[in-house]
Amino acid sequence: MAILSRISLLAAVALCCLRNGVVDVEGSHDVYQELMSVPAEVVDSKYRTQFHFQPPRNWINDPNGPMYYNGIYHLFYQYNPYGAVWGNIVWAHSVSTDMINWKALEPAIYPSKPFGVNGCWSGSATILPGNKPAILYTGIDPQNRQVQNIAFPKNLSDPYLREWVKPDYNPIIAPVNGINASAFRDPTTAWHGPDGHWRLVIGSKRKHRGMAIMYRSRDFIHWIRAKHPLHSANGTGMWECPDFYPVATQGKLGVDTSEYGAGLKYVLKASLDLTRYEYYTLGYYLRDVDKYVPDGTSADDGSGLRYDYGNFYASKTFYDAGKKRRVLLGWSNESDSRQDDVSKGWAGIQIIPRVVLLDSNERQLIQWPIKELETLRGKLVSVQKKKIKSGGSLEISGIMASQADVEVAFELSSLEKAEPFDASWTDPQKLCELKGADVKGGVGPFGLLALASANRQEQTAVFFRIFKGLNSFVALMCHDPSKSSLRPGLSKPIYGGWVDVDIQKNGKLSLRSLIDHSVVESFGAEGRTCITSRVYPSLAVGNAAHLFVFNNGEEDVKVSELKAWEMRKPLMNGI
Ligand SMILES: *[C@@H]1O[C@H](CO)[C@@H](O)[C@H](O)[C@H]1NC(C)=O
Ligand SMILES: *[C@@H]1O[C@H](CO)[C@@H](O)[C@H](O)[C@H]1NC(C)=O
Ligand SMILES: *[C@@H]1O[C@H](CO)[C@@H](O)[C@H](O)[C@H]1NC(C)=O
Ligand SMILES: *[C@@H]1O[C@H](CO)[C@@H](O)[C@H](O)[C@H]1NC(C)=O
Repeated sequence: MAILSRISLLAAVALCCLRNGVVDVEGSHDVYQELMSVPAEVVDSKYRTQFHFQPPRNWINDPNGPMYYNGIYHLFYQYNPYGAVWGNIVWAHSVSTDMINWKALEPAIYPSKPFGVNGCWSGSATILPGNKPAILYTGIDPQNRQVQNIAFPKNLSDPYLREWVKPDYNPIIAPVNGINASAFRDPTTAWHGPDGHWRLVIGSKRKHRGMAIMYRSRDFIHWIRAKHPLHSANGTGMWECPDFYPVATQGKLGVDTSEYGAGLKYVLKASLDLTRYEYYTLGYYLRDVDKYVPDGTSADDGSGLRYDYGNFYASKTFYDAGKKRRVLLGWSNESDSRQDDVSKGWAGIQIIPRVVLLDSNERQLIQWPIKELETLRGKLVSVQKKKIKSGGSLEISGIMASQADVEVAFELSSLEKAEPFDASWTDPQKLCELKGADVKGGVGPFGLLALASANRQEQTAVFFRIFKGLNSFVALMCHDPSKSSLRPGLSKPIYGGWVDVDIQKNGKLSLRSLIDHSVVESFGAEGRTCITSRVYPSLAVGNAAHLFVFNNGEEDVKVSELKAWEMRKPLMNGI
């Protein structure tokens, strides 16, 4: 009782002070001073994810320094050891041999020296010659400047690399010569050039122009700023967590960050503090002049391609030398209130690690959950060759639908009734808002209703819609959680992205959704369009959650195959 009343009192404090009590630190994080160090005494398990990455309690945000080293995957992440809102940030540390089962260790990097006394923010790992890992991260110094620091493992023979040393010569990069000390953070993994110099970029901005400021170093400790940023884009504001890496135009293998040559294209990703969404472009890296040039196939202003068109931010990739693949991690935050976070005792998850490849059309990336996730697949139910008539639906029963991996392939017999596409529809999210799951269409909406209550008062709809454009068909993928919960006061944004497939030629569309209590993570058309949503049903909880296939279009669609697995729970940081 005492605990409960204490928490609700604090919740009331948060409510009353939302408007005037929230301090914005460097435009990056809402700071709830009163809640920052309130230990989670109650950890609510109703909405906890079971196979997504979570520590036992408290706030998490950005994944940091992911790496594969001597057979072990390391994931560090921004963590508040003392509460369920942002604050007191350290680098928490977990290790794994499959990126699915995780073991929690003690925090690896935390404020202890002046160059990070006010915070140890995001950064990346680089494996140096001689198989020596190094971490570069942003520290907040006594003047509240954002500076870049280096840390090394204390004992390379410790297979878990538990302890990290921050040499006293830090910071190794300071915000001087016109760099805004409040907008200078998140160093990337470094890459090595033929001139013997390492290179890395750091997120920044000048006025409205977001940029990736470049540095070079021969010894990894003394860094010199390059004359020009690697790239910048006006109107995008502060770039957080930049990421820059090559992808192969042929084959299914990932490419190490330092590789260079024919058959490679480059990805530059920025997380935009202005919108709290990310975007990326594909392009060329002119190594002689250290310039990145987008290839112009997508918008370079924040409105273009995204890894994920939903709740997804601060992502980072790393090259997994063990399995020769590039793996993406990202943070998905809560969509309930701060008060809910405090009473849940936790906030934030990491998405399921995804393999990143270049699409054969070279216009976008493709992402797919790492194969290791499939080791959690338990009981299977499947459906073959089932027609879903216009206005019809099909319940998929026999598994716990709140913890499932669902793969479905749809066949479209005809596109005749597709709605005409209006050229003014330039924003897929707005189009999904305009045409939600309940708005009847020609071809679609068809897809899944995840985390649904028996009578579908609650449902999170994941679906496609096909439009007839002037010269070709346009496919749209949406997440519509507007009916995801009867609970008031939740944020339930509708999300959407275009699906770059030749639907006329294929006549098929596939969908995979990872459903995990308070998250639905979906992969359309083999991973061409991905969307993640956080939802908090009040009825469709645990064993009471249902799963349906639905079709609200005039045209019938066929489920050529559906497989739904109940997912087992991995070892997750000791819980
Ligand atoms: C530096 O960045 C901060 C944080 O975004 C901003 O508030 C401030 O106006 C910037 N200063 C200058 C001189 O541009
Ligand atoms: C380094 O780690 C190894 C393996 O855990 C251990 O045996 C050794 O004692 C450690 N060395 C030091 C100096 O702590
Ligand atoms: C840069 O972007 C800002 C805000 O979006 C705009 O006001 C300004 O005119 C742009 N500057 C240039 C050089 O395009
Ligand atoms: C996190 O949560 C809120 C909504 O609950 C949202 O407004 C915010 O932009 C989200 N994303 C990030 C990356 O902070």
